[in-house]
This record gives sequence, C-alpha cells and structure tokens, in this order.
Amino acid sequence: MTDKTHILVTGGAGQVGLELLRAAWPDGVVLHAPSRAELDLTSATSIRAAFETTPFAAVINSAAWTAVDKAESEAAAAFAANALGPALLADATRARGVPLIQVSTDYVFDGEKAEPYGEDDPVGPIGIYGASKLAGETAARLGNPRSVVLRTAWVLSAHRSNFLKTMLRLAADRPILRVVDDQQGCPTSARDIAEALKTIALRMIADPQAPTGVYHFVNGGEASWADLAREIFRLSAASEGVHAEVEGIPSSEYPTPARRPRNSRLLTNRIGADYAIHPRPWKEAVADIIAELTAQGAPA
Ligand SMILES: NC(=O)c1ccc[n+]([C@@H]2O[C@H](COP(=O)([O-])OP(=O)(O)OC[C@H]3O[C@@H](n4cnc5c(N)ncnc54)[C@H](OP(=O)(O)O)[C@@H]3O)[C@@H](O)[C@H]2O)c1
Repeated sequence: MTDKTHILVTGGAGQVGLELLRAAWPDGVVLHAPSRAELDLTSATSIRAAFETTPFAAVINSAAWTAVDKAESEAAAAFAANALGPALLADATRARGVPLIQVSTDYVFDGEKAEPYGEDDPVGPIGIYGASKLAGETAARLGNPRSVVLRTAWVLSAHRSNFLKTMLRLAADRPILRVVDDQQGCPTSARDIAEALKTIALRMIADPQAPTGVYHFVNGGEASWADLAREIFRLSAASEGVHAEVEGIPSSEYPTPARRPRNSRLLTNRIGADYAIHPRPWKEAVADIIAELTAQGAPA
C-alpha cells in the first residue's frame, strides 16, 4: 500500500466529491471515497477506523450539511456535520502529519460589503449554515496547521440538485420564471472546484512548506441569480433544450427560512498568486454543464 498515494475524499457522492472522483489524477494516486454509511463525519469512531486501515497522504473534506434552509430548524445536525466533522478530521490528520483541505462557503460573510470579499475580510454569517461552516473553518485551521480552507460559492454541476438543474426542471412546465435579482455572486462549476482541490492536494502532499490558510475559488465574473437563469436558458435553447423567460424579483418576494447574503462575490487573487490557479469565466463553465446534460439526454 505504501507505494501508492492514498487520498481520502469525503462527500464523494456530492457535487464536488463526484467531480473529484471523475478528475484525472497522476498515476499512483488512489482516491478513497467512502459513502456516508461507511464514514460518518460526525462519528469519531468512524473516522478513526478509516485512518487505521489506510495511510492517507491527504484528506479533502467535501462532505457537508448543505441544506441551507433546513439548517435553520436542525442546527445541531448542521453543526455536527459542518463543525464537528472538520474538527475530528483535523485531529486525525494532524496526529499523522497529513494535510487537510476543508471546503467552505461564501455564506461565512454577511453580504453587506459593496465590493467582492477577500479572504481576510471580516466574517459574519447571517444563518445557521454559514455559522456552522465558519465553525468548521476554525476547527480545521486550529486543529491542523497543515490545512487549507477553500471557500467557494454558487456551486453548479450536472449532478445532484443545484440551481441550474432546478431552473431546467421548472422551465419544462412554466414559460415564465420569477428569479431573485438582488443577490450577486459568482456561479462556479463543481468540476473546476475539483481541479483546484486536486492542485492544492498534490502540492501539499509533495511540499510540506506548501502555503496554508484560507483561499477563495470561484469562476470568473459575477451575476445575479436572474442573470444566471437567463444564461442557462440561452444556452439550453441554443442546444434545442427548454427555455423560459426570466422575470427578476427582489429577495423580499421569495421568502425562505434562511436569509442569503446579498453580495456573495469572492476575490480569487490569493489562490492565483500562491497556487497558480486562475479560474475561467463562469459562462464557459455553465456552457460545459449544459453540454454535459445535453449529451446525457437530460432536459437541457
Ligand atoms: N452547493 C453550493 O452551492 C455550495 C456553495 C458554497 C460552498 N459549498 C460547499 O462545497 C462543499 C461541497 O458541496 P456540494 O454542493 O458538493 O454538496 P452536496 O452535493 O450536498 O454533497 C454533500 C455530500 O456530503 C455528504 N455528507 C453529508 N453529511 C455527511 C456526514 N455526516 N458524513 C459523511 N458524509 C456526509 C453527503 O452524503 P449523502 O450523499 O449521503 O447525502 C453528500 O455526499 C461543501 O463543503 C459545501 O458546504 C457548496
């Protein structure tokens, strides 16, 4: 087993986790992606057992409680997955001198800043999900000095549920969709996040002095949810898929249990400088996802 480089990927069935498994890794790298039943992040016993059977060279924690609205009424469960889980992984990795990469979120910010957020801007989550993810960031950073926290936002892929797939599903029945246009963010491909995580993991494995700390990774450019929906339908219609007109509405007309930050835009200079990762524009990334769904015969 020792001639291979073993990497533990949690959340392997999620959007980002699936793309990590689909990515091309160098020869000799073996990804281990146990299901939630095999490795429950909230169980110290479960995590210990995983580390006892395999000498991991790195851990990428892409598992999380991602149900933002449900977190408001199930805070204990959200904190267990998003804060206790990273704390347990940080303990297990630090004890073995192994790097930990913790995926986090724009929701650690309150969204009141007028400009895009840098890594060192003050945090201030406005919901339980964001608070639980912030606790996870702190646990990873304090628990393992060889950790990277990678914040991302507005994650899209051809898998699981996300905004892009919801828009296409709704457009099958409705000619006009009312979509929030007063929240700004950076739509981001799960595949591109996986590539960034791969680059960071391989560098951290190869170089004990590799940079640590908090990084932002989102695709380039910015959009409101309504802008994103319009681009999704433009691309979908161009490949003979569904189309709907998009009517922009304020968030006040689409009440949800959890408030969302008005500004979710993240700066990515630091990851460019330290890891030479330069995100492509979000429209290119969305076009690839629509093309993937079209190739699958899905309703794009
Ligand atoms: N989605 C977004 O828009 C977004 C935005 C910003 C940041 N992020 C962050 O990006 C990361 C990846 O998100 P994603 O969209 O890929 O998430 P996702 O599709 O919802 O997948 C999450 C994965 O975590 C697993 N999981 C949840 N609780 C677990 C536990 N206790 N033990 C083990 N596994 C558990 C889930 O297992 P099951 O398959 O059994 O459900 C699932 O495979 C997360 O850290 C998330 O906070 C996401």
